[in-house]
Amino acid sequence: MSQICKRSLFKANRLALNSAPAVLRLKSTWFSEVQMGPPDAILGVTEAFKKDTNPKKINLGAGAYRDDNTKPFVLPSVREAEKRIVDRAMDKEYATIIGLPEFYNKAIELALGEKSQRLKAKHNATTQAISGTGALRIGAAFLNKFWQGNREIYLPTPSWGNHVPIFEHAGLPVKRYRYYNPKHCNLDFNAMVEDLKKIPKTSIVLLHACAHNPTGVDPTVEQWRELSRVFKERNLYPFFDMAYQGFATGNVDGDAMAVRIFEEDGHDFCLAQSFAKNMGLYGERAGAYTVVCADEQEAARCLSQIKILIRALYSNPPVHGARIAAEILNTADLRSQWLKDVKGMANRIIDVRANLKSNLEKLGSSQNWEHITNQIGMFCFTGLSPEQVDRLMKEHSVYLTRDGRISMAGVTSKNVQYLAESMHAVTK
Ligand SMILES: Cc1ncc(COP(=O)(O)O)c(C=O)c1O
Repeated sequence: MSQICKRSLFKANRLALNSAPAVLRLKSTWFSEVQMGPPDAILGVTEAFKKDTNPKKINLGAGAYRDDNTKPFVLPSVREAEKRIVDRAMDKEYATIIGLPEFYNKAIELALGEKSQRLKAKHNATTQAISGTGALRIGAAFLNKFWQGNREIYLPTPSWGNHVPIFEHAGLPVKRYRYYNPKHCNLDFNAMVEDLKKIPKTSIVLLHACAHNPTGVDPTVEQWRELSRVFKERNLYPFFDMAYQGFATGNVDGDAMAVRIFEEDGHDFCLAQSFAKNMGLYGERAGAYTVVCADEQEAARCLSQIKILIRALYSNPPVHGARIAAEILNTADLRSQWLKDVKGMANRIIDVRANLKSNLEKLGSSQNWEHITNQIGMFCFTGLSPEQVDRLMKEHSVYLTRDGRISMAGVTSKNVQYLAESMHAVTK
């Protein structure tokens, strides 16, 4: 090749290289149409909290239990169960599609109670699930495929933020019923019943079994009995989400009261359980999903279909968290330690609620803060407006979601006074 020719080729290559990015930019790529998704509301709060340099800052966004030093808490029963499991040097083989029987059988027994007639009659189709979210997602997939009634799921307003995407993702249209009265920060039971009576018969209705997230407002025993009657009358299908058993009152049996009332009243229903909060197994993803069926044969058929769905979704669940939960639920000394651990967490939250309310009163707040102690579980729906929340974050470094929900787990004996002062300052 002549020198001139070589030089012009080199020049052409250089030109092509220099212009490559421009060419790529012009050309559409496989994912050029993908829009940036909105950030997760709670993660956004945590990010803003991390950046804040105020030493008094408080994060009340995340729904995970913290001890009185705002540190993550591993339950003593969990530490001991884990030690025993590690000492056994167990293998890492796959679990079955529906997980570990020593876990999921005990999980559903914890919910329905040892005396449950439906469990004795084997009416339950139960599977291990990837924590509460996974249990809800399997339930959504199962109902989307097999529900013979009105193919809509009704959620309370408000509800846990992930409920809508979970059910919509599975293909079930989501509708709402009234639940919370923002004016009085309590349950609007009449509106709830009024709406349930209007819902098309045979619809699916999601119920928070206890410690409703985000409001911390639950029906009373009498109200659950009344709801059970309405569900019968309207032929509605209850889908219970129980993510906080034991966390509401410190008593696992008391917190399962709603599910047990519906069982005693002869309802068929389904139930998603999570062990994230009550065992502090957040990242271990231990949960269970149960369909309580009309008889043993129906349960066997449903379970066979649930297995087919799970196989395609994730094959089989993780074993470590389920082993820990099984060790606790099946071993007398660990189980009684765990019941104490749960009570300890619930009591800390109950104490700090009382502390927050009395601090606000001491400061001379003219607002009614009764709901702080009337609500139960991890969350308190304060009734603060989005503007007041913005001021709390900007002026006081107190971080929470704009709906006014505070995670009581982030409140401690050390920061409660500062929190009360901040809340008083934005509500005067
Ligand atoms: C009402 C409700 N359901 C389900 C879940 C699921 O939690 P996980 O998937 O961590 O068990 C949560 C967690 O915050 C919740 O609040």
